[in-house]
Amino acid sequence: RESRRRSIADKVKSYPDFPKPGILFRDMFPLLRNPTDYRECINLFVEEIREKYPSTEVVVGIESRGFLFAPLMAQQLNVAFIPIRKAGKLPGQTISYSYALEYGNDTIEITRESIEAGQHVVVVDDLLATGGTLSASIELMNKAGASVECCMVLLELCDLKGRKKIKSPVYSMIPLN
Ligand code: PRP
Ligand code: HPA
Repeated sequence: RESRRRSIADKVKSYPDFPKPGILFRDMFPLLRNPTDYRECINLFVEEIREKYPSTEVVVGIESRGFLFAPLMAQQLNVAFIPIRKAGKLPGQTISYSYALEYGNDTIEITRESIEAGQHVVVVDDLLATGGTLSASIELMNKAGASVECCMVLLELCDLKGRKKIKSPVYSMIPLN
């Protein structure tokens, strides 16, 4: 599994000074261009869930790039996919959670009827940076009464130490410095 993971990691491209000077931007899209590599990402996530979190009933994806992984994982596991979206995008009754950003606030939402109290969920995003998005997503899931078994990301920017903010287990397929 380690060698499968490494061959995927080799496909992530790095762009210095994007979108601003001093930022080393990691681009996962080259990986998705190759159907074998993309499928392998999904398989590796699914294997981790089957082994360590077999009680998972829902795979939750975070808008927008979490949507590239979570629904495919849910399909393979034959469980529900549900989206976390920015406020104001989901119809019907919602549950919201607001959190502080460097400048201002952000609010995320889920559809109230999409989740039942006590359900075991895995939360998926493409990338863990400061951890703000994932920790807010966990708070939102807890507000809905769900139990977050694990957070899963493709890429982790380890230097930012976002993992420390996250109270659930975190699985990152590709840890980067
Ligand atoms: C990126 C990424 C994560 C988040 C991680 O999303 O997709 O969701 O940032 O950063 P954090 O750990 O510091 O919270 P972005 O805000 O760029 O939105 P997008 O996925 O909709 O493009
Ligand atoms: N790549 C993609 N998305 C990001 C990054 C990055 O390096 N940092 C914060 N969001």
